[in-house]
Amino acid sequence: MRLFATGLFVRAARSARLNASLRCPKAAPLSPSITRWSSSQAVERREDETHNTGSAYPTQTELRQYQNDNKPQTGSGTDTRQAFKEVFTGESQRNEIISREGLSRAFVEGESYVFDETSNLSPSIWNYIGRRLYMLPNHPICITRKLIESVFKGPTFKNHIASNPVVTTEANFDVLGFPKDHPGRSRTDTYYVNSSHVLRTHTSAHQLAAFQHMSKHNEKGYTICADVYRRDSIDHSHFPVFHQMEGARLWKFDSHVQTGEEQSDRTQQVYADLAQLPKLDLDRVEMPVETDPVRNPLQPEHNQEEVSAMVRHLMSSLEGLVHKVFNAAREGGIAGLDPNEKLKVRWVEAYFPFTSPSFELEVFWQGDWLELLGCGIVKQNILNNAGLHDRAGWAWGIGIERLAMLLFGIPDIRLFWSQDARFLNQFRAGQIKKFESFSKFPACYKDVAFWIDASPAAASPLTTEPANTSSTTGVAAAAGGDATKASPTEVQPAAFHENDVMEIVRDVAGSLAEDVKLVDEFVHPTKGRKSLCYRINYRSLERTLTNEEINRLHGDVCDRLVRELRIELR
Ligand code: PHE
Repeated sequence: MRLFATGLFVRAARSARLNASLRCPKAAPLSPSITRWSSSQAVERREDETHNTGSAYPTQTELRQYQNDNKPQTGSGTDTRQAFKEVFTGESQRNEIISREGLSRAFVEGESYVFDETSNLSPSIWNYIGRRLYMLPNHPICITRKLIESVFKGPTFKNHIASNPVVTTEANFDVLGFPKDHPGRSRTDTYYVNSSHVLRTHTSAHQLAAFQHMSKHNEKGYTICADVYRRDSIDHSHFPVFHQMEGARLWKFDSHVQTGEEQSDRTQQVYADLAQLPKLDLDRVEMPVETDPVRNPLQPEHNQEEVSAMVRHLMSSLEGLVHKVFNAAREGGIAGLDPNEKLKVRWVEAYFPFTSPSFELEVFWQGDWLELLGCGIVKQNILNNAGLHDRAGWAWGIGIERLAMLLFGIPDIRLFWSQDARFLNQFRAGQIKKFESFSKFPACYKDVAFWIDASPAAASPLTTEPANTSSTTGVAAAAGGDATKASPTEVQPAAFHENDVMEIVRDVAGSLAEDVKLVDEFVHPTKGRKSLCYRINYRSLERTLTNEEINRLHGDVCDRLVRELRIELR
């Protein structure tokens, strides 16, 4: 059900337990080959001076002053912002929200951001910022990152990490060519810090900065690893925070004048690099013969010959990644891969505002096609903006959790955030080994049925899905979601949006909500009102929940649905 993504939250009342469990683990030292961008190096940092105190990290006196200045006021605050108390996260209180109705602000990685009417962050989403799972050597997210980096490694690729997840809307959307009405920009799908800043929804938010870095250092390629944030449905493969990796490879051409000779020269360079890639023993069963000339055209700056060469290089590089990952999974004893069968992959056409032509790679996995990643030829205007007029090349993006779930046989995405030793102690740097489930604790479901407005805007949550979603598997798309796909057929989210229900459930139940499904929907024959019924499955990964606990959680969910979404319980 992804127009965009998820959220898993816990209410302030339970913050004591949470704060203890959500401390930032200490980041492991970076390997010398990895650069970590400080916020000042990140793309388009904080242009809006009115929102920028210019200060680095606030002192305790400043914090106290702020808290005094922002005493609660009476009045009609909106939805989740009302729920903000003070949320302190991280050992060093590096990331923090100071909030009262009216003026509220957050400190993230030493930067300060003032909230405004656009803000739609929940306290609990904040708790995930700064966890840096990708830096913990024995964590499956980090092991998977390193596996990917071992395919896209130096000297050709510079491996980056981008720690501050707050980026400008310009970096996340505008510079990448997202249309103004793209559903990915909607507040139902994206976490807005304020009107000019979001929690990045994808690593592509750093594309321009990475290209600028390449331009300055005369590099050929990059990878970026980062945590990304999307409001979305609740199920075993969606979480409001997940990790992505993005990679790009460019070729430098002496001239952009398109004479026949230079064209073949450019193409030859790419083919020479292609010849260096390992030969793979896999089955490519499908491949678009040509892409849609209107939605996915050859860019005016390119010629067919060089794009074909770059696309072949892109596909072979990514098949190399998949081959390595799946072989590692096979060796690790992960079910679903017959040791005697070749890995089957297929390429399908896809649409992203920042690449053309674009593709997705799918892998045949446990009897079905699984979308694994999105990619394409980088839009030339992005490269030009980075001062790389004389280069062209490809980029891809992949969701790390999806790959890690498959590599280690991890059944539920919530586990990645677990602090339980029974989970964490199972993994070792550099090793791929099947995850052994510890006992599954009982689940308990509760239904909530309610009326929403009969206005046309209150459309079925089932009809807000982009018409072009190409998933054949019913699980999240390429790099962790459909959010960045461009499609003329995409529809704007309705006034009532299912993601708002999800957000409230996550905010109340946190990782105790296993999944939430729409189980019934009908329109009242005379009154024309629409009724929806959601089933919430409560289950802890770590213990048995008591009935009282579940009743209290469910009661809180119902209260907040009524208060914040203005629905009427049935
Ligand atoms: N950013 C895209 C996503 O999140 C993935 C992507 C990256 C696609 C780079 C093309 C090129 O889905």
